[in-house]
Amino acid sequence: MKILITGGHGQLGHCMYDALQNPLLLVNNEYVFLSHEDLDITDKGSIDRYLFYHPDVECILNFAAYTNVDYAEDNIYDAFKVNSLGVKNLVDACEEHDIMLFHISTDYVYKDGLLSCNEETECDPINIYAQSKRDGELHIINSNLNHWYIFRTSWLYSEYPDNFFTKILDNCKYYKDLRVVTDEIGSPTYARRLAELIICIIENGYYATTLKSGIYNTSGNGMCSRYDFAANIISGGYNINILGEKIKIKTTIYPIKQEELNLKAKRPHCIIMDNKKIYSCVPISVDHWIYDLQDCITNYEKLVNHKKLEEKMLFGKFNRS
Ligand SMILES: NC(=O)c1ccc[n+]([C@@H]2O[C@H](COP(=O)([O-])OP(=O)(O)OC[C@H]3O[C@@H](n4cnc5c(N)ncnc54)[C@H](OP(=O)(O)O)[C@@H]3O)[C@@H](O)[C@H]2O)c1
Repeated sequence: MKILITGGHGQLGHCMYDALQNPLLLVNNEYVFLSHEDLDITDKGSIDRYLFYHPDVECILNFAAYTNVDYAEDNIYDAFKVNSLGVKNLVDACEEHDIMLFHISTDYVYKDGLLSCNEETECDPINIYAQSKRDGELHIINSNLNHWYIFRTSWLYSEYPDNFFTKILDNCKYYKDLRVVTDEIGSPTYARRLAELIICIIENGYYATTLKSGIYNTSGNGMCSRYDFAANIISGGYNINILGEKIKIKTTIYPIKQEELNLKAKRPHCIIMDNKKIYSCVPISVDHWIYDLQDCITNYEKLVNHKKLEEKMLFGKFNRS
């Protein structure tokens, strides 16, 4: 089966690509990663043209999204254009060509203040980004697609920029003090784990057996505040070795409340997703987010070392010429 990944050069796309390189994985399907430039989901004509020239596409993973939560408040049109209209364009194309659609959504569509929400829990999107994502979901839910899956996830992070994990580590290089909120509680999700879940579903054909079309919560296990998450990132950061040297972290982290940050977009105080539904359909074991974070730190170290070595080799070449 040929699978298209839209927004394939974003964080989740990178993690998916890496997860597919696992030598223990037997990959029977073909994955095509398309960047924003390769395929703009807001341009219906370009989707139609792509599918005209590639009629063998049987599945689309939509990782494309407008993800800047604060910018979305002032750029409502742009956020809805990608997260709602873009999804509608994909739905229309998938209906026309009978293509299976996997779409990624967010915990921010749920009502704030819930310590456990399942897929039936009321939606009440908290900001413009969340409203645009909910609109995108509704295009899929109200469609005539034969196979569709909405995976709601939360606090997606990875070794690839630009997310909470990389921002905390980057800030540690430049600032002595960091202020992080204690009154936003959620579940960090390592993007690599979400990618592995999707690969597991596709490569084992669960979409044709146990996994019915519908909405699924797919977050990391356990919960924490942004402050706890940042504190764990920093303590893990002390052990990171770049080209044989420990990275220097001299940062002290201070707890603050959301109102002190004055962010453009409102954030929820607490949303914890109950992932039981997906676990009942797909036999995967999921670790606590603390262990996933350790894994991400290891992969971050590998990635940065690889880049530094490349830079060194390039620099060496320039010196010689
Ligand atoms: N990050 C989180 O904390 C979080 C939490 C919950 C859910 N999610 C959801 O998880 C999914 C993956 O997020 P992510 O963190 O991987 O986001 P990301 O790194 O921002 O990747 C999104 C990708 O979509 C591309 N894109 C934007 N507009 C597009 C368009 N019109 N057509 C095609 N591609 C377009 C972007 O390309 P350019 O950068 O070149 O524009 C980018 O490569 C998204 O649906 C997001 O809403 C994220």
